[in-house]
Amino acid sequence: MATTKRTATKTASKGKPAAKATRRAPLPETIGVGIIGAGGIARGVHIPGYQKLSNVKVLAVSDPIEAAREGAAKQFDIGSTYADYQEMLKRDDIQVVSVTTPNFMHAEATIAALEAGKNVLCEKPLAMNAKEGEKMVAAAERTGNKLMCGFHFRFTPQVQTLKRFAASGAFGQMYYARTQALRRRGIPGWGLFINKEKNGGGPLIDIGVHMLDSTLHVLGFPKPIAVSGQTYQMFGKRKDVIGLMGQWDYNNFTVEDFAVAQIRFEGGLTLTLESSFVANMEENDKMTFQIFGDKGGAQFNPLKMYTEQNKTLLDITPVYLPGNVHPHHEQIKSFIDSVVNDKPVYTPGAEALQVTRIIDAIYASSEKGGEVKL
Ligand SMILES: NC(=O)c1ccc[n+]([C@@H]2O[C@H](COP(=O)([O-])OP(=O)(O)OC[C@H]3O[C@@H](n4cnc5c(N)ncnc54)[C@H](O)[C@@H]3O)[C@@H](O)[C@H]2O)c1
Repeated sequence: MATTKRTATKTASKGKPAAKATRRAPLPETIGVGIIGAGGIARGVHIPGYQKLSNVKVLAVSDPIEAAREGAAKQFDIGSTYADYQEMLKRDDIQVVSVTTPNFMHAEATIAALEAGKNVLCEKPLAMNAKEGEKMVAAAERTGNKLMCGFHFRFTPQVQTLKRFAASGAFGQMYYARTQALRRRGIPGWGLFINKEKNGGGPLIDIGVHMLDSTLHVLGFPKPIAVSGQTYQMFGKRKDVIGLMGQWDYNNFTVEDFAVAQIRFEGGLTLTLESSFVANMEENDKMTFQIFGDKGGAQFNPLKMYTEQNKTLLDITPVYLPGNVHPHHEQIKSFIDSVVNDKPVYTPGAEALQVTRIIDAIYASSEKGGEVKL
């Protein structure tokens, strides 16, 4: 069988212990994929995303729930199913694994897959907390396998455009940003999204994480130094509140339904963040951020830029942005490209860990009732 050239080797860098040398078999022409967790996101975007690529085959799916794994196998014509993902990880013909379980399983499944020699695309958030995330990133470094986190918003043409403008200096010194992931009546009525123990938190860790990541990506991942946050639980335990995303179990709602934070970064940049499952506001769903710089500003969704030139205030909107882009599928294409061509992944575990550290600090600050230093 023809093979691509990539083989992984790790060398010691000065002052650091050498990573365990992992000499893997060359990659086959067709990359084998295994799925851990056959729920909504796996069926909605991961499996179809892989199946769009000609050099990839989804070989197996694992889920402890029989109906989920057999249903996915039937729907997508996948050859093998496993109740226990550890059994699936023993297969030599699988090089890539998607971890699409609820959040509490991300770390365990990702580390096991990395240790088994697989490259991992783990859904967002990277982990329940930074302690878990650190172990995941360390496992990727130790094994030399790739770890990417599912922040698909970075693959939207809008975020890609804003990243290019910011990196070119178009906004000048970026000193303030505002990020919002807000739903009016959007408590998920399925899954474990309202369970603090299994999900790690509510809207902040579920949808706030996306906009926080995209904002930091455009800002160039500045170093956070202090976080002040407050979370609220105003609606989740009430049975009189309308559910536009299904009926949740209001007796077992243990997460926040609103979070707000101010994050300070090295160099003087400040970011404010708001995230809700429920809020009394106009829009049903608002995923947006704004960047403020001394040469220009910008907003995501819809994309607009603002500046002043020749004593004239200008609003700038692109005449053309690529249409028909499926950011989830672009993410999967990019991950496979990184694996096949041994390139750094676009949304690395280390950056996702930085996002998780900030989220941890927001929860800690709310509990403490004061600022948390990072
Ligand atoms: N990027 C996005 O836009 C996006 C959207 C939705 C969900 N997500 C993320 O995807 C993940 C899954 O969300 P979902 O909506 O698909 O949830 P889901 O509840 O629909 O599916 C999760 C599946 O994982 C399975 N599972 C649980 N433990 C397992 C184990 N040990 N081994 C294998 N499978 C196991 C469950 O049985 C279930 O079938 C979450 O982390 C969520 O945050 C991301």
